Amino acid sequence: MKRNSVEISPDKTYLTLRWADGNQARFHAIWLRDNGLDGDTRSPLNGQRLITLGDIPHDTRILEASVRETGDLQVLFGPENKQIAFPEDWLRRHVYDREPASEADPGPISFWNAGLQDRYPRSSWELIRHAPAELGRWLAGVRAYGFAVVGGVPCQSGAVCEVAELFGYVRETNYGRWFDVRAEVNPSNLAYTNLGLQAHTDNPYRDPVPTLQLLCCLENAVDGGDSVVVDGFNAARRLRSEDPGAFDLLARYPASFEYTGARGVHLRADKPMIELAADGGISTIRFNNRSTAPLVNIPFDEMQAYYRAYRLFADIIDDQTMQVSFRLSPGELFIVDNRRVLHARKPFSGTGQRWLQGCYADVDGLLSTLSVIEQQQKTGVMA
Ligand code: FE2
Repeated sequence: MKRNSVEISPDKTYLTLRWADGNQARFHAIWLRDNGLDGDTRSPLNGQRLITLGDIPHDTRILEASVRETGDLQVLFGPENKQIAFPEDWLRRHVYDREPASEADPGPISFWNAGLQDRYPRSSWELIRHAPAELGRWLAGVRAYGFAVVGGVPCQSGAVCEVAELFGYVRETNYGRWFDVRAEVNPSNLAYTNLGLQAHTDNPYRDPVPTLQLLCCLENAVDGGDSVVVDGFNAARRLRSEDPGAFDLLARYPASFEYTGARGVHLRADKPMIELAADGGISTIRFNNRSTAPLVNIPFDEMQAYYRAYRLFADIIDDQTMQVSFRLSPGELFIVDNRRVLHARKPFSGTGQRWLQGCYADVDGLLSTLSVIEQQQKTGVMA
């Protein structure tokens, strides 16, 4: 039977591991030493690193390397003369000698448009509360689509927070732990209008923005008022393919967002409408006509073109072929990844009330819970 094999580079700064299945990967001496799994390098209790880079000699080299019967890699590092073993599956999971991930392979993310109508992730409060596997499926839906619905939530004030607490933590803001979106037809206060709201991300005037928003329906007796969601990442990708120059303008210059709507509050952030990650991928969309402040970070010579790009992006977001719409009934809640998915409300009329409650949370807690559930499913330790 063919076995794994290893070869040290002539200058001993890296090794090449060849697996029996034909795959191979190179690993640097400094990388392997820094990631040693021995009890002196990593705490066996919490997995945290016990050394700093300064504890590793500059001239760290691989003196010897061999593959054990089990497939694990045994490495002798000089000049420390230190032996460290690396399990085969650990090495496979941490391969970095590969082509960078491309948008053709975006991992667990699925871009979408109106075609997602009637196919978006959905579950019920009873299921996600009692069945970890179902909670995992629903959270994986949020990770993939940046949007999901859950029904059967108790029609009680504050219940929206209980949903957030299933997987993470409520992020309290100046609007409170949760807030009411209570609109009345012909209201005395214009804040509670029945007008439609253009698709937007929430709170772009914060840095960092709340990365999740949950909106739960307690009452909906009006005509219209449907909710709409748009995949902002997909909208930005479409802009990039239709007009790369416009995409570049929205990604290059910081827009300005501001909120001063309450006494003692002045929130402001100068961030691009399309924020890119270090690898050039789209990381955060900020789009909100109501809280966009006068734009002052775009050079005079680019302002006309910037507004043209802004309008093109808005036209794509407003395009019905990009939108999924649904009507929330009492006890139904939707969650959006506020870095990615924009939400909107269609206008409504009639004589009843429309009462939603919302809260913010953050995606790190959601992904942590999902990761633990997925790990439990892999190892079969699931309840
Ligand atoms: Fe909103």
